[in-house]
Amino acid sequence: MEVVVAEHAGFCFGVTKAVDTVYEQISNKKTNIYTFGPIIHNEIVVSDLENKGVKVIEDVSDLKGVSEGTVIIRSHGVTKETHRALEETGLEIIDATCPFVKRIHRIVEEESEKGKSIIVVGSKSHPEVEGIVSYANGPVYVVESPEMAEKFSADRNADYTVVSQTTFNKNKFQETIEILHNYGYNINIVNTICNATDERQTEAEEIASRADVMIVIGGAHSSNSRKLYEICAARCDRTYFIQTLDDLKLEIPDGARLVGITAGASTPKNIIEEVQKHVRTNF
Ligand code: F3S
Repeated sequence: MEVVVAEHAGFCFGVTKAVDTVYEQISNKKTNIYTFGPIIHNEIVVSDLENKGVKVIEDVSDLKGVSEGTVIIRSHGVTKETHRALEETGLEIIDATCPFVKRIHRIVEEESEKGKSIIVVGSKSHPEVEGIVSYANGPVYVVESPEMAEKFSADRNADYTVVSQTTFNKNKFQETIEILHNYGYNINIVNTICNATDERQTEAEEIASRADVMIVIGGAHSSNSRKLYEICAARCDRTYFIQTLDDLKLEIPDGARLVGITAGASTPKNIIEEVQKHVRTNF
């Protein structure tokens, strides 16, 4: 039986940069290191950082009374208001927002300054989308799915610029913009799904369509991992979604020839290797 591990599995460039930033601060012997929200959606990494003294804050008010320290902004960024409030604390702020997310902030800011209305295709409650929305200076809408695009109702005489959450499913993004277009909205589309996601999703889809069993490793709260699971499950009936090897209750059907493994952007390499080794040695 063949085991194929996706080349584009695990940490993407933006997450690597953010996680490395925190470890660098620890090795620089900085004290009072905070991350604004968990640095990644991976409990193992977050608890390792906690053990090294890094604290996770959920709100600027959590810094009340703190006069010295470093706050690291994670890869999916924060809202414009939060950024300002963090700066005003007087603490050292290290912005590890992924450059691909920053690019969306810039597009939204510039386009809305030109008078365009903004449509963000993504999950409304995701911090990345909340951040993106905050950079609009005029009308801004979030469309979460093609189904929501069907019901979308706004000024048809306005000009819209459409961007996407970096980790959005590219097929669903395509469907969503086609629906908006068919309903007569004047849309200028900027596909801001990042390459890491695109490559990861395309490769996962290709492996899943050949695989008898597919394993997706990712954090339960990681939206890019869940989307990866959706894509694989649509191609391969036996798709498992696990966070670590302990979650894997693998059953391989008789005659299976290929097991595929992929992982979301917040999955460390060692977990992928453990799963791979387990499958290779036990089946
Ligand atoms: Fe950045 Fe893309 Fe990763 S936006 S954080 S490189 S998934």
